[in-house]
Amino acid sequence: MRKGILSLTAAAAALALGLTACGGDSGQTTSTSTASAPAAKAGKIGVILPDSKSSARWETADRKYLEEAFKAAGVQYDIQNAQNDKTAFQTIADQMITNGATVLMIVNLDSGTGKTVIEKAKSQGVPTIDYDRLTLGGGAAYYVSFDNTKVGTLQGEGLVKCLTDKKAEKPIVAYLNGSPTDNNATLFKNGYDGVLKPKFDSGDYVKGPEQSVPDWDNTQAGTLFEQMLTEQPKIAGVLAANDGLGNAAITVLKKNNLNGKVPVTGQDATVQGLQNILAGDQCMTVYKAVKKEADAAAKLAVALAKGEKPTAASSVKDPETGQDVPSELMEPQAIYFDNVKDVVADGYVTKEELCTGDFAAKCTEAGIQ
Ligand code: BGC
Repeated sequence: MRKGILSLTAAAAALALGLTACGGDSGQTTSTSTASAPAAKAGKIGVILPDSKSSARWETADRKYLEEAFKAAGVQYDIQNAQNDKTAFQTIADQMITNGATVLMIVNLDSGTGKTVIEKAKSQGVPTIDYDRLTLGGGAAYYVSFDNTKVGTLQGEGLVKCLTDKKAEKPIVAYLNGSPTDNNATLFKNGYDGVLKPKFDSGDYVKGPEQSVPDWDNTQAGTLFEQMLTEQPKIAGVLAANDGLGNAAITVLKKNNLNGKVPVTGQDATVQGLQNILAGDQCMTVYKAVKKEADAAAKLAVALAKGEKPTAASSVKDPETGQDVPSELMEPQAIYFDNVKDVVADGYVTKEELCTGDFAAKCTEAGIQ
């Protein structure tokens, strides 16, 4: 494992050649570049993505948009994926700093791992940006994400809308929460609890089984949901924290001929999630325009790499330290069958990848051009 990481990072070290190296026996992927534009004064930006399985977004959207932004700014960068390996995460960070990174942008695997990296970077004079996930107690220089409580609110409201459309009476609602070590999962839950708890309290809805899915692991989510449905066969709605978890629930519902009858939520507007919506098996997803997030983070990183001290639009209080972290937070958008087309129009997914096979007719029905 270690050997694989080292050899890949060696490839990363060859960045002066402007090479792109992919894959390796450790599963890490890396892309590096030296831009031809005048990058003379700017330092190098290192980015560590978390994994490629908990959501398609990290490799299909975040990497792509960050790369585009760095290329446009003409700065050197090195984007690697820790593939959910906490040891690799630290190793990659260390090696990025050794290889001359002057700014680090991380999506932590948990706050502990993030904090170690941030502190190490700080001791070397390398500023850090918490990208998408806030590192609790970490003290990163900046935090760039979405309004994650709002994401959860949209999910809660989405489930209510779909249950209302189905005229569900006293529906039993199950929760498949995100990873217990991801601060975002806490924020999402705060958001949907805000909508659903009053319904449970008033007796309009019934709180069913609830599980947090370690590392957002989709396979584990399937096993957990299978147990939940065995325990409570009358589950009538599923608040799933992202499209991967939603798809895990849908797969189990399909086996029980309940898909389409039991609304399921999601997040990330992945091709799979959108197809599940088109098929009528998923109630909604939350679209987060990752391009905006990547652009905002890249802008800060580029300024930092040039030795500037950029200002951020707002700030978020780190609940552990009570300190304000300068932040940029983007707006999420709820997506249902009727506005799947917005995600395509925004260029986040293409019609070609979405409207394959049986989905072609659904795409036409949903007005996707
Ligand atoms: C991100 C989500 C993603 C999840 C799993 C969260 O921190 O905000 O977009 O689905 O992690 O990767």
